[in-house]
This record gives sequence, structure tokens and C-alpha cells, in this order.
Amino acid sequence: METNKKVKLSMNLFVLLLLYITSVKSIFATSELDSFLARTSVTIYNQMKDGSNFTVHCKSKDDDLGSHVVQVGSPYEWKFRVNFFATTLFFCDAYWKDKSIGFNGYEAKRDLSRCPWECVWKGSEDGLFGYMEGYTDPDLHYAWK
Ligand SMILES: *[C@@H]1O[C@H](CO)[C@@H](O)[C@H](O)[C@H]1NC(C)=O
Repeated sequence: METNKKVKLSMNLFVLLLLYITSVKSIFATSELDSFLARTSVTIYNQMKDGSNFTVHCKSKDDDLGSHVVQVGSPYEWKFRVNFFATTLFFCDAYWKDKSIGFNGYEAKRDLSRCPWECVWKGSEDGLFGYMEGYTDPDLHYAWK
């Protein structure tokens, strides 16, 4: 009797454990959770025709990435992990000559599916252009002001 109960209990625990493993696996199979675990990068290229530099300064709630000069041929890149609640946000200012652009360099809400691994920005005389991962045409544009 006593042994029987113990066997039943451990059977139940075993079933619960199996259910738990299966559900965790299916959650982790979604690409959004994959990108929580992976490192995402943002790369900013300088494509100024006159070869001029621009400067980018990005911050998150927790990190100030500092001011970086982006030169033609040497992109500025940073990497991070999207937080569990997908609230990761890097807000940036770009400065060129006497003009600037305020933009969200990375915003999980917008970018988790838009660029799960590598988010790309290209700066030129016409402003900053953002690219969906794997696309050659930009889907975002901010003009210098
Ligand atoms: C761009 O910045 C670098 C490093 O600060 C500097 O050496 C270079 O002269 C600058 N280029 C131009 C075109 O201003």
C-alpha cells in the first residue's frame, strides 16, 4: 500500500516534469525567444559622398555607450542581449555638421522581428536609413535637421 502510493506519486511527478520540459521547449522554439538568448548587433555605416564624419551617441536606461565618430569605411557597432521582457531600447543622437537626428537605434518592440540578429543603419547626406535584416532597401528614414 505504502509503496504503491510512492510509485504513484513519483509517476505523477515524472509526468509533470515531462509536461514542463515539453512546454519550455515549445516556448524556446519561437524565434522571438531565440533572439532573447542571442546577441543582437546594431551597425551604423557612414556613406557620406564627401567623406565627412558624423557622430553617434546612444544610451539605454542602464548604459551610456558614449560618443562615437563614424568614418567612411569604419562602421560603429555594438552588441547586446534583448532583455526578457523585450523592453530593450537604445535611443541615439547623430550629429553631422550643424545638424542632428534623434532616433531609436534599437527598440525591441520594433526590431525583434524586423532585425533579430543584425540591425543596420546607413548615414548619408540625405539622413539616416534603417534596414530590415536581409533587405537592400531601407524601411526607415530620418532626415538631418
Ligand atoms: C574623421 O574623424 C577622424 C577621427 O576622429 C579624423 O582623424 C578624420 O580627420 C576625420 N575625417 C574628416 C573628413 O573630417
